[in-house]
Amino acid sequence: MAMAPATSNQNLNKTTWEPQLTKDGSYTFFSEAFQETFHSRQGAKAEAFAKFAIATDLPELAKQPKLKLLDVCYGLGYNSAAALETIWKINPACQVDLYGLDNDATVPRAALAPELIADWSAPVQQALKALVATSQDPEAVPMPANLTGGLLIGDARQTIKLLIDQGFQAQAIFFDPFSPRRCPQLWTVAFFQAVARCLATPGKLTTYSRSASVRAAMIEAGFTIGTLPLAQPDPNYPHEWSQGTVATLGNAELTPLSEMEQEHLLTRAGVAFRDPELTAEADSILAQQKQEQIESDRPSTSSWRRRWDLG
Ligand SMILES: C[S@@+](CC[C@H](N)C(=O)[O-])C[C@H]1O[C@@H](n2cnc3c(N)ncnc32)[C@H](O)[C@@H]1O
Repeated sequence: MAMAPATSNQNLNKTTWEPQLTKDGSYTFFSEAFQETFHSRQGAKAEAFAKFAIATDLPELAKQPKLKLLDVCYGLGYNSAAALETIWKINPACQVDLYGLDNDATVPRAALAPELIADWSAPVQQALKALVATSQDPEAVPMPANLTGGLLIGDARQTIKLLIDQGFQAQAIFFDPFSPRRCPQLWTVAFFQAVARCLATPGKLTTYSRSASVRAAMIEAGFTIGTLPLAQPDPNYPHEWSQGTVATLGNAELTPLSEMEQEHLLTRAGVAFRDPELTAEADSILAQQKQEQIESDRPSTSSWRRRWDLG
C-alpha cells in the first residue's frame, strides 16, 4: 500500500522527546502541542496491556492463525507492542497484519531509543523497528516473517480512507487519541463511522475514554458499546467508575453500561462532536458542540454528578 505523506503538525518541528517516567517504571512523552502526556501517569505499559491488548480479547484471539489489528494514534507504539507481545507469547506462529495511524513521524522514531524499547521481547523490538521503517525506508529493517502492515503517517481522518479502500477489517482496534477536549477531531461521529468500516465482525474497538460525548458518537456511528470496568477500586480515585469503553458492531460480549453511565449519556455531556467532512479544526468542533448543548433541553451534567455522588 502507498504510504501517505506526512502532513504539517506542530510537533514536527520538535526534534527531541524527553522520556517521562510513569508509575509502573515505563516511559511516556509529553506533548507541548496538546499539553498532555501520551499515556496514563499510573503506568504507560500497564495501560497498553489492560485497556487495549486484554480489553480486545487478544489472549483468546491469539489462538487463531491470522489476525488483523489497527492502532489509531500509534504514538510510541505501546498498544501495538503490547498486542504483539500478548499474541506471540501465546502463539508465536500467529500471522499479524497491523496498521498504525499517526500524523507525527517523530514520535514512533523517538520511541525506538534503546531505553524505551528495552523492556519488549526481541521479536517485538524487531517489529517496532520494522513498522517505523515502513514510513521512511522499508528496505532498512526487514519485517519479521509473522508480521505485515506498516505505519500510515498523516491525519488519521485521511489515512483511514486508504484502509477502507483496501477493505481492511481488523479484529481489534486500539483507539488512543489525545483526550476529547484537546483533540476533538478524532472523537467525532464521522471519524467513528470511518473507523467502524475497518472493524471486523466479530471484533472489538477499545479506548480509554469513558466520556459521554465519545460514547454518544460511537453509538451514533453504529457501534454497540460497553464499559471497561475498573480492575479494582483505587482509594486515591474514589469517584472513578470505568477505565474506558469497548465497542463492537456485532453481538460480542460486553460489560453493559451501568444505570449511572446510561444516565450520563442523556446529560449535556452526551452531545457528540461533529465533523461531517472530516476536515474541521478543533476549535470549530468544540464551538459547534457547545452551541448544541446550549440549545438542548438535556439535564446538566453537574446535576447528574450530584445525583450519583461523584464529587
Ligand atoms: C495519546 S497519543 C497516542 C499514544 C500511543 N497509543 C502510544 O502508545 O504511545 C496520541 C497520538 O495521536 C497523534 N495524533 C494527533 N493528532 C492526530 C491526527 N489528526 N491524526 C493522526 N494522529 C494524530 C499524536 O501524534 C500522538 O502520537
